[in-house]
Amino acid sequence: PLKLGIMASGNGSNFEAVAQAIAKGQINAQIQVLIYNNPSAQAPIRAANRGVEAVLLNHRDYNSREAFDEKIVHTLRQYDVELVIMAGWMRLVTPVLIDAFPDKIINIHPSLLPSFKGVNAVEQALAAGVKITGCTVHLVCLEVDSGSILIQAAVPVLPNDTPETLHARIQLQEHQILPQAIALAAQR
Ligand code: GAR
Repeated sequence: PLKLGIMASGNGSNFEAVAQAIAKGQINAQIQVLIYNNPSAQAPIRAANRGVEAVLLNHRDYNSREAFDEKIVHTLRQYDVELVIMAGWMRLVTPVLIDAFPDKIINIHPSLLPSFKGVNAVEQALAAGVKITGCTVHLVCLEVDSGSILIQAAVPVLPNDTPETLHARIQLQEHQILPQAIALAAQR
């Protein structure tokens, strides 16, 4: 099984989707560790329920993004991680992390890239008035939300959507395509 390290900052519904797909035998992988940076994140509770070790690395404890990423790399290596999954990871990354896992870091983003990069992608889509948006799984490179696209799913924007209702519809698709992307990586 492919050894995964998952990085999350918040709710962890994508962590859950990956863990569930593994439990169902849909992905030939195992989650070695969850790294989270926000002490109030829900993701580590989900990890505990799944018997996955969770490590808190709080960016506020580090003097630079590079020092923070060094600690992340160290932790990922400690857990023998082969593929890194950013599942709602809300920190910018540096070459320290990217160069340590070349083409082995993937991210889920709540828009059809290259539209609506960065934070608040769902709000950006609503503000732009697009009628279709979605989500993207892509390889992580230095430029934010710009690496090679692996899988996308489209989602309609409905007339009375709020950021919350639209995000919820997008997340249903995220929970499909993130496990699919990992399954593809695990076959190689
Ligand atoms: C997801 O919708 C993901 O696409 C987004 O954060 C959410 C995390 O949800 N990521 C970004 O916006 C990255 N810039 P989750 O914690 O429930 O998995």
